[in-house]
Amino acid sequence: MSEYDALVTAATQAFQNACAPISNFRVGAAVRAKSGRIFAGCNIENATLGLTCCAERVAIFKAVSEGERGFDAIAVVTDVDRLTPPCGACRQIIWEFCGDVPVLLANLRGKVEQETSGELLPRAFDASFL
Ligand code: THU
Repeated sequence: MSEYDALVTAATQAFQNACAPISNFRVGAAVRAKSGRIFAGCNIENATLGLTCCAERVAIFKAVSEGERGFDAIAVVTDVDRLTPPCGACRQIIWEFCGDVPVLLANLRGKVEQETSGELLPRAFDASFL
């Protein structure tokens, strides 16, 4: 049992909804708000490719659009042995909306690794520079 079990479970459920007909690479993510609410998302691809939105950003944008501010962890779930870290764009969004938080990388077979958003995006640019 880990304090992140519910978060990984929510990401795993969202994985099932992944819309990835181009890459066939399915991703689920879930972010936990400081309110305790969990918001999940999946990757959503379309024919233009460039308009694809990653699971992490879908989850965070869902939460923000519901009025949540402040998050304390995010999980990313894929179906591969080599656990999938967030892409560069998502690292930026995670940093800006969540700050330095645990990032759980997991797969469907129960493998889990934990990093932090600060480790994933050192010397990040954010609003403090504006
Ligand atoms: N993808 C995510 O959703 N999150 C990641 O952390 C890495 C990549 C998606 C984007 C695209 O739909 C597919 O995975 C292949 O890049």
